[in-house]
Amino acid sequence: MGLSLTYKILGQNLLKGELRPGEEICVKVHQTLTQDSTGTMAYLQLNAMNADKVKTEVSVAYIDHNMLQASFENADDHEFIKTSAAKHGIIFSKPGNGICHRLHLEKFGKPGKILIGSDSHTPTGGGLGMIAMGAGGLDVAIGMARGLYYLKAPKVYNVELRGKLQPWVSAKDIILHVLRELTVKGGVGYVIEYTGEGVKYLSVDDRATITNMGAELGATTSIFESNEETLDFLKKQGREEDYIPLSADPDAEYDEKLVVNLDELVPLAAFPHSPDNVHEIPESEKIKVDQIAIGSCTNSSYSDFMKLAKILEGKKVHPDVSLVLSPGSSNIMNMISENGALATLIAAGARVLEASCGPCIGMGQAPKSEGISLRTFNRNFKGRCGTMNAEVYLVSTETAAVSSITGYFTDPRTFGADIKVEFPEKYALYDNYYIYPPESDEDRRKTEIIMGPNIKPFPINKPLEDEFIRKVILKTKDNITTDDICPSNAKLLPFRSNIPKLSEYCFNTIIPDFKERAENNDGGIVVGGDNYGQGSSREHAALLPLYLGIKAVIAKSFARIHKANLVNAGIIPLEFINAEDYDKIDEYDELEFKDTKSSLETGVFKILNKTKNIEFEAGFTGSEREKKILEYGGYLNFATSSEF
Ligand code: F3S
Repeated sequence: MGLSLTYKILGQNLLKGELRPGEEICVKVHQTLTQDSTGTMAYLQLNAMNADKVKTEVSVAYIDHNMLQASFENADDHEFIKTSAAKHGIIFSKPGNGICHRLHLEKFGKPGKILIGSDSHTPTGGGLGMIAMGAGGLDVAIGMARGLYYLKAPKVYNVELRGKLQPWVSAKDIILHVLRELTVKGGVGYVIEYTGEGVKYLSVDDRATITNMGAELGATTSIFESNEETLDFLKKQGREEDYIPLSADPDAEYDEKLVVNLDELVPLAAFPHSPDNVHEIPESEKIKVDQIAIGSCTNSSYSDFMKLAKILEGKKVHPDVSLVLSPGSSNIMNMISENGALATLIAAGARVLEASCGPCIGMGQAPKSEGISLRTFNRNFKGRCGTMNAEVYLVSTETAAVSSITGYFTDPRTFGADIKVEFPEKYALYDNYYIYPPESDEDRRKTEIIMGPNIKPFPINKPLEDEFIRKVILKTKDNITTDDICPSNAKLLPFRSNIPKLSEYCFNTIIPDFKERAENNDGGIVVGGDNYGQGSSREHAALLPLYLGIKAVIAKSFARIHKANLVNAGIIPLEFINAEDYDKIDEYDELEFKDTKSSLETGVFKILNKTKNIEFEAGFTGSEREKKILEYGGYLNFATSSEF
């Protein structure tokens, strides 16, 4: 049986484990990326490991998320990341250079390499034939320090593209169609591998739009083959030597398959408030639009901005529409300013922002109350845009551009003759926004890491004690989210590098005094219901309890990623073996744990409720590696041990 491209790349870089779906494997990491909102924590972790030079071929620290600098905190974060990068041999991308995934594609991505990034849209790199995966900050820190990454070997979902896209239908419509078919959960546990004759008509920018939004399918990553289009892209970026041809074996077998007939696709949109709520453009209803935003890591390429300029040439943005643009990189900005497209866009009445994430992460440009916003972005969850009652639709650049002229949601096919974008032989290749680390190890090691008042060290856990007694300081209901544990909003975002400050908000939507309870009880135990820790993958939801000294969480069941984050923090996630034991525990009951190490081995903890004098059982399920992590008191301690 032939191999998928996914299994070829994973197989060539396998360090440990058996490459079978569901098995834990360890692979070599060639490249890493971070952005500022998760990067501060990754570099605190890297510094805490006393790491020297990164073990990767390329690691890049981008600043693109939190650019407002309304106070000193963000600027402190940027300086901390910049100096940490220099110390460890990491390339630093200054604020204003652009969006991490777009920049990485332009300058560093290479076919056949493995990239991990502390951002969920890292799979954008799959457009270049890489295995590019989003990971937690700690995984990325360990990836940098040790050059490896642990993951569950994925299944592979083949999406075969047949035929060719019709005029005014674009790559964005392909991924919206796949989202409609598979839903936001359909990719969980899979790599989505695109094959078929349709692939050859898609540029690397098109492919990257598709792999970027594979994150919305919940997939491990998405990947395209590396072919002539890949070579053409790399040539334009002055990196021809990075090209290697790569594809699946012709007789590759896949776990699942979806066929998409590109000839039959029409322009689509994800309606509020989910990327898989996909429908055709509602022409008959004439939905009036208030705001249109073009950019984000999904649709901010040179071709996106040139298409937009072609459509807006000699036209005027509708008086009731605010058209906001954020190009993906400084070099795209440079090219459109040199060739006159920027002048066209400004003349038409567009608002041009700096090259960064901007409105995608709710950093400015919130729509008006109950406003309708069309965005070329990848997510439209309620409130993400900054206005709770706004309605956000996700569309292609073509749909967004044409609608900005008409003032209502418009099928771009009504605009007229197809547009053609001419590509230059070479793209702008300035790299003055990049700061390279000192070349000599001596100079690099001399770099002083600057930690302004907003930067606090990473909290380090202690190795697991064989016995301990702690009180239950909180008992929660079912479906506690990571937002309940660590709230996320624009006000708290600047404190991502300040765990002591952020810990004041831990569980504060449930009880106002969680921090005091933890401080007064030498940490403690949290008891939870079903699906504890659902929601975002935010590792801060484990780091705040770690900082406050929480020893264990005993729940009816856990959300998968939060459970892994608890293990990484050295907090034991235990599940009630008899769910009714949950009812027999009250807040402030005193629980006694004995023989924790042998309990980890057997997977069963016998816990004595000293207050009620009853014993109950709770289980731990995890790999041998995860048991070691808990024994060492967290992944960071284990990763720096001789046993790792
Ligand atoms: Fe930035 Fe939005 Fe992408 S926040 S990394 S542009 S998903």
